Amino acid sequence: MKTIGIASGKGGVGKTTVATNLAYALAKANYRVMLVDGDFGLANVQLALGLQAKYNIGHYLRGEKTLKEIMVTTGDGLMVIPGASGVGSLANLKPEELSDFIKGLANPIDPIDYLIFDAAAGISDNVIQLLKACDESLIVVRDDPSSIADGYGIIKVLFTEHDYQSIGIIASNVDSENAAKSLVTRINNACTKFLGIELPFVGHVEEDSAVKDAAKQYKPVVEIFPTSKASVNFRALAKAVSAQ
Ligand SMILES: Nc1ncnc2c1ncn2[C@@H]1O[C@H](COP(=O)(O)OP(=O)(O)OP(=O)(O)O)[C@@H](O)[C@H]1O
Ligand SMILES: [Mg+2]
Repeated sequence: MKTIGIASGKGGVGKTTVATNLAYALAKANYRVMLVDGDFGLANVQLALGLQAKYNIGHYLRGEKTLKEIMVTTGDGLMVIPGASGVGSLANLKPEELSDFIKGLANPIDPIDYLIFDAAAGISDNVIQLLKACDESLIVVRDDPSSIADGYGIIKVLFTEHDYQSIGIIASNVDSENAAKSLVTRINNACTKFLGIELPFVGHVEEDSAVKDAAKQYKPVVEIFPTSKASVNFRALAKAVSAQ
């Protein structure tokens, strides 16, 4: 099993969109995928997939339900651990509790190929602890100054304060693959100069109105607009992730 955290630093850059579509595309490619709403205080993933889960992570954290009981499986075989509004956050979990939670996700349920976390925005301790517990963290970045600064910020914290290097970059809402490459090069210039590392460019997603149209219908774009530009990008991203 491989655990992947999707994070960004800045909010609203496309984490949930990337996490849900990557998870969906991998599930469609016949991998066993579990998607976890790592932003426990909100029900982002549920909304993005149009799910109305009876139970959520809050029931699990309060000891009322098992992971198997709160898990929802979509018609396409994607397994989901739903978050919920007003539950508090991973900030309340100590690092050992968090690592037990992640182990628990992998254990009682049938073997999983990919465990994908949609992390909360920001660089709070809980986000960093979650990412550190993942085999790989993918940082979603848009080509705007605050997204770049915050994306670099999360990379810097992971690398310098936690000695964590399994980081890749996903460029979101870009005009083209070339624009994505240029964005990642600029981030890597800073990473090389100040941190002495160069991060892999894992994939990109073009700015595409189909993403918003899909969100309005509470569905991943790869499911309902499979021929859109963004869907082509998401399938390529899934291929890149599974080829690693
Ligand atoms: N490639 C894209 N093209 C067009 N719109 C997009 C694209 N990716 C994301 N969006 C839109 O941008 C907005 C923010 O996306 P999303 O919710 O995935 O971000 P987020 O990083 O998860 O936000 P938050 O930090 O609030 O959790 C949404 O309205 C989404 O539909
Ligand atoms: Mg989100």
